[in-house]
Amino acid sequence: MERWTGRVALVTGASVGIGAAVARALVQHGMKVVGCARSVDKIEKLAAECQSAGYPGTLIPYKCDLSNEEEILSMFSAIKTLHQGVDVCINNAGLARPEPLLSGKTEGWRTMIDVNVMAVSICTREAYQSMKERNIDDGHIININSMNGHSVVPQSVVHFYSATKYAVTALTEGLRQELREAKTHIRATVSTGRVLPLCWLCGWQRAGKFCGAEIWGSLFVCFFLGFLLLKENYKSY
Ligand SMILES: NC(=O)c1ccc[n+]([C@@H]2O[C@H](COP(=O)([O-])OP(=O)(O)OC[C@H]3O[C@@H](n4cnc5c(N)ncnc54)[C@H](OP(=O)(O)O)[C@@H]3O)[C@@H](O)[C@H]2O)c1
Repeated sequence: MERWTGRVALVTGASVGIGAAVARALVQHGMKVVGCARSVDKIEKLAAECQSAGYPGTLIPYKCDLSNEEEILSMFSAIKTLHQGVDVCINNAGLARPEPLLSGKTEGWRTMIDVNVMAVSICTREAYQSMKERNIDDGHIININSMNGHSVVPQSVVHFYSATKYAVTALTEGLRQELREAKTHIRATVSTGRVLPLCWLCGWQRAGKFCGAEIWGSLFVCFFLGFLLLKENYKSY
């Protein structure tokens, strides 16, 4: 991890859950992490915890509603001005609204598309452009997917969510192909989602509760990200 010390990672959805755990782990390993979400107060609290723990990196909280493109573009512009640019982009923010296909509300579907698909695509494009303009050839773009992005389960409340996560699978593969075509060594990776359902099995609920599943989830994500950052030839991505 040494060569990542001081380099800039953007973690979307860093206020709670997996995003908060990833942001913390990267700060612990010396990275400068811009953590964004709407609840910036929670990221500020996490940043203070990281500082009191004496972690070598820093967590920079940034308030951003990822369903608003202008806010995403302003965030990238602020990162460019204050920290040169993004070297690692972790598209973690995502949500599952319980809106079945036969009875769900359009607004809920639209929110899922905006955050799970559009924001991932906009952040990916902006992160790539940021790397390209600074001749960064070893960056990473990591999309946190789900098992629901690989199979459709018989649960009506997750069918639309599943469609957005299938989109993440397609976007990551498309990105991999475009990066290869551009002859860059920037890596695109999709999380397999094979271990994350542990969180469900162990009853990991929202509301920032810290339980066994969060520890398992954090351990997995830390291991996964560490593996990616250290072994950059992971798969062919
Ligand atoms: N937990 C699981 O079991 C599981 C399983 C498979 C895949 N995943 C995937 O893993 C990722 C993280 O899941 P999680 O369980 O950690 O989620 P979570 O606890 O619900 O946290 C979601 C994060 O996304 C942020 N977010 C949501 N809407 C946003 C918006 N409009 N603008 C900015 N930030 C927004 C939230 O922050 P604010 O509300 O403060 O904005 C929060 O930080 C998601 O992509 C999810 O699909 C999770």
